[in-house]
Amino acid sequence: MAKEVFDLPQGSKVALLGWAAMKNLVGGLAFIRLRDGSGYVQVAGRREDLPEASWKELESVKVESAIYVRGAVRDDPRAPGGKEVKIEEFKVIAPAEEWPITRSALKSPSFIFDVRHLSLRGPRTTAIMKIRSEMFRAVFDYFYSHGYHFIQAPLIVQAACEGGATLFPLEYFGIETYLSQSAQLYEEAAICSLEKVFVVQPAFRAEKSKTPRHLTEFWMVEAEVAFYGLEDIMKVEEELVYHMANHIAERCRSELELLRTRLKPPEPPFPKITYDEAREISEKRGTSFEWGEDLPTEAEKAVSAEFEEPFFITGYPVTSRSFYHMPDPSDERRTLSADLLAPGGFGEIATGGQRIHEYDLLYRKVVESGLKPEDMKWYLELRKYGMPPHSGFGIGVERTLRWFLNLKHVREATLFPRTPTRVYP
Ligand code: 4AD
Ligand code: MG
Repeated sequence: MAKEVFDLPQGSKVALLGWAAMKNLVGGLAFIRLRDGSGYVQVAGRREDLPEASWKELESVKVESAIYVRGAVRDDPRAPGGKEVKIEEFKVIAPAEEWPITRSALKSPSFIFDVRHLSLRGPRTTAIMKIRSEMFRAVFDYFYSHGYHFIQAPLIVQAACEGGATLFPLEYFGIETYLSQSAQLYEEAAICSLEKVFVVQPAFRAEKSKTPRHLTEFWMVEAEVAFYGLEDIMKVEEELVYHMANHIAERCRSELELLRTRLKPPEPPFPKITYDEAREISEKRGTSFEWGEDLPTEAEKAVSAEFEEPFFITGYPVTSRSFYHMPDPSDERRTLSADLLAPGGFGEIATGGQRIHEYDLLYRKVVESGLKPEDMKWYLELRKYGMPPHSGFGIGVERTLRWFLNLKHVREATLFPRTPTRVYP
């Protein structure tokens, strides 16, 4: 592996498989920046030192060809990282055509995403994807070490969890079905046997929003816990966010450096403000909205620009929330729910709260929100068989990564983004 070269003493023999990320020919001397899954290392060969077949392939190899290099490690202060591999044998494993992503093409973000299947080889995307991978590891670490069970919910569903407006219909042998917006309803069923559950899976939203925060297909981490209230679940959210950030800060130093990001893990507890306070801040900053509405994107941005650490907004009005949110017994106009917002204008990254666990109240809410109780039959029925008070949340993977890494757009946080205008490649 390329990375291991830097731990080897001068003279060590190595064999490497990878790609020719960059190439330089200077007279009878060839330099290649070899890339593999672990990173980059410079390999260099001289015409007079090489068998003729090797030199021919080395001289003519095109960038992004897959290559094989055998050689010896050499300390060289001029090489990146202070070491290079002196080539003794060179072979092209799979040749590449002229690389279509030129320096000037790099200036067009839409072109870069048109050729995402190729552009993903760049150092920036590679670093982001390595961090994303570590982020998932942190999620599993956190939940497994806190007594949660990992479950999987179906992605083909019949009921809307987050409102009919953003459902993607799916043709299913003549039955009306949709792509899942959230695993929450299924998690709620599972807590009655497993008590503490989490999922890590895709979610779909047919939202035509062309914003830097919206994808039509994204990944969500969700958790649901029996006997937990709002305060308990907010604690889980802040601990999880801290754990993810801390893990990335420790494990992904070189990737963060490459992205020129300083990730400071946010220490719990996170500040909490009420919906009404958020509304005031937003108004002061020139964005007003009616009491009872969900925070418009602009308001969210305005409020989150006031903070330097993540924070919760609590006490959302019933009218701004999905049907399943538990009304606050001390003020029935409000729900026992909270959004977690990232600072600096990034806005909402998670929504959570306590669910309604009583049959009659939930039935009423289903009807009031224009849903059909028949469509919610099994979900309602759970409330007839020992459903305790319970709470849960969902946190968006791409939005969280966008904030951690200070990315312009969520599409950078996923390998093959899906937006209203992009389903290719
Ligand atoms: O706020 P949402 O809609 O909440 C739910 O779906 C709950 N049922 C989750 C739960 O309690 N189990 O979505 C949760 C998070 C958002 O805070 C956001 O981070 C992300 O999912 N999200 C999106 N990310 C990218 N593009 C979109 N269109 C998103 N919609 C939601
Ligand atoms: Mg939300």
